[in-house]
Amino acid sequence: MKLLIDDAHIDAIEKICELFPVAGVTTNPTILAKIGGNPFDTLKEIRSLISEEADLHVQAVSRRADDIVAEARHITDILGANTFVKIPAVPEGFKAMKTLLETSEILVTATAVYTPLQAFVAGQCGAAYVAPYVNRIDNMGFDGIRVTREIKEIFSANIMETEIIAASFKNAQQLLELCKCGVGAATLAPEIFYAMINNSAIDSAVEHFVDDFESFAGKDKTMLDFQ
Ligand code: E4P
Repeated sequence: MKLLIDDAHIDAIEKICELFPVAGVTTNPTILAKIGGNPFDTLKEIRSLISEEADLHVQAVSRRADDIVAEARHITDILGANTFVKIPAVPEGFKAMKTLLETSEILVTATAVYTPLQAFVAGQCGAAYVAPYVNRIDNMGFDGIRVTREIKEIFSANIMETEIIAASFKNAQQLLELCKCGVGAATLAPEIFYAMINNSAIDSAVEHFVDDFESFAGKDKTMLDFQ
């Protein structure tokens, strides 16, 4: 399962890329609104930070299919290879996905996915990824993990190449459940990256080892001080 960062703050992305194996960055209009200004300034900066090989997902905001197609071409013209255009999985979005698949090599991520059948239709339209919104589905009283598992089953049963990029996490437990069933990718807000690994019991165990070493070797000594 690839891990992507669901954020556009350069400092946060830089820090997470240092600590974690990161395959790319996802954004949406709400995320870009937190930065403001020209969205392409932000997106170009992210692109140069994460390298040309990493995935960058950027959402089209037009409502009509023709305009979504034009926006998708514009986004990929500016941001280059490995840019995925996020298109909402709604009727005009499906129409745009079909056109893009028939007329271009543009990579599409179907977004705002709340149901397995939305994902199925997006996959049939040629989307490379579908993004089920795990926590938002939970918040509606349904089960986001179950919906994501069902999407995985549908893709497998119908021999579809579309991958899942699970999105909208509010805790590490939701991520753990999806790691166990091996979805293609998950995109996480910075706090979920840290929630995966922050644990006071682990910190205390590591501190204890260092204390024990220093108890016989001396303060701040490490294995580098011995032959
Ligand atoms: C990704 O495609 C979504 O835009 C994003 O993960 C939504 O997350 P939220 O529910 O925390 O806004």
